[in-house]
Amino acid sequence: MTALINRQWVMTSRPENMVSRENFTFQEVPVPELNDGEFLVKSIYMSFDPTLRAWMNERDTYVKAIAIGEVMRCNSVGEVIASKNDKFKIGDKVMGGIGWQDYCVTTGANILPFQVLPKGVPLTMPLSIFGITGLTAYFGMLEVADLKEGQTVVVSGAAGATGSVACQIAKLKGCKVIGIAGGPEKCKNLTEFFGLDHAIDYKNDNVKAKLREYCPNGVDRYFDNVGGPILDNVLDQIAMHGKVVLCGAISDYNTDNPSGPKSYTRLIVMRASMQGFIILDYAKRFPEAISALTHWVQEGKVKYQEDVQDGLENAPEAFQRIFTGKNHGKQLLKVADPTT
Ligand SMILES: NC(=O)c1ccc[n+]([C@@H]2O[C@H](COP(=O)([O-])OP(=O)(O)OC[C@H]3O[C@@H](n4cnc5c(N)ncnc54)[C@H](OP(=O)(O)O)[C@@H]3O)[C@@H](O)[C@H]2O)c1
Repeated sequence: MTALINRQWVMTSRPENMVSRENFTFQEVPVPELNDGEFLVKSIYMSFDPTLRAWMNERDTYVKAIAIGEVMRCNSVGEVIASKNDKFKIGDKVMGGIGWQDYCVTTGANILPFQVLPKGVPLTMPLSIFGITGLTAYFGMLEVADLKEGQTVVVSGAAGATGSVACQIAKLKGCKVIGIAGGPEKCKNLTEFFGLDHAIDYKNDNVKAKLREYCPNGVDRYFDNVGGPILDNVLDQIAMHGKVVLCGAISDYNTDNPSGPKSYTRLIVMRASMQGFIILDYAKRFPEAISALTHWVQEGKVKYQEDVQDGLENAPEAFQRIFTGKNHGKQLLKVADPTT
């Protein structure tokens, strides 16, 4: 195994605004020998999540900040190709924090510990519909939003990995659902493929006017993935006792000058609330969510899209796609084929 060469992307500077290739160095290092309790994983698919951008800042978030010189982190699916750990056997397909590299040597300990994947599941699914984004949509909508049938629900980032699943769960619960996304193609997809009641194109429509048209009695639940001016527009139309679920604020991730909501006083007038959440707090209940999502997918009630780019050398550009809206569904990158 010592002959194996590991290509890896190391974070060598912190981005000031938009993350770019310049923030990383591509290097080759030998794969180290395994110690007892360790196993060697070959990366197959990498997942790109907006939260990684926040982890690149100096300040710790809900996890420790990535250090300068550290291999860029990400969740991946890979294959065990050598092992000195009884729980992980050669040939096992696993999910865990492999990072932006071909190989990782690990004991299995991680922010979410490495897990062996059940056989027969397509290898992208544990990172997309059954991954963090699908789970975030599930708990964000069903636990934090606490939906009631007949409510009017607005979701931003609606064409993305989290947003598209969140929208469909709200539809399943009998709500009227309006999705906000960038561009006519994504909006057409929201109504025609994902079955939403309406879509608002924030790049071309007057969002405030469209919200008034589609939500004449106000917005009961707003699942916010983007923050910024769209959050302000929705607050302006929040319903009495409405609730904003703060899932993410991607419009503010690549700036050191976040915009913040100006219309927050609508919360007072409308006796409304805003609540943030972090999906890791629901980790013990992931099996329950995966079981429900599995049924919905099998019954055709929840659809999902994956956007698979190719080649470890393209990791920085694949990461940028989620911040420029180039991704159509869950952003993944294929690193290698499985050997078994
Ligand atoms: N709270 C949690 O535990 C948790 C867990 C997972 C994810 N999240 C959050 O969920 C959100 C979505 O994540 P995801 O992984 O599912 O990504 P995604 O939605 O698949 O991709 C990101 C999307 O954000 C949109 N976007 C980018 N810049 C924007 C801007 N300035 N204004 C408005 N929209 C913008 C783009 O869509 P358009 O083309 O429509 O602009 C892009 O496709 C993120 O905010 C993420 O941090 C939170």
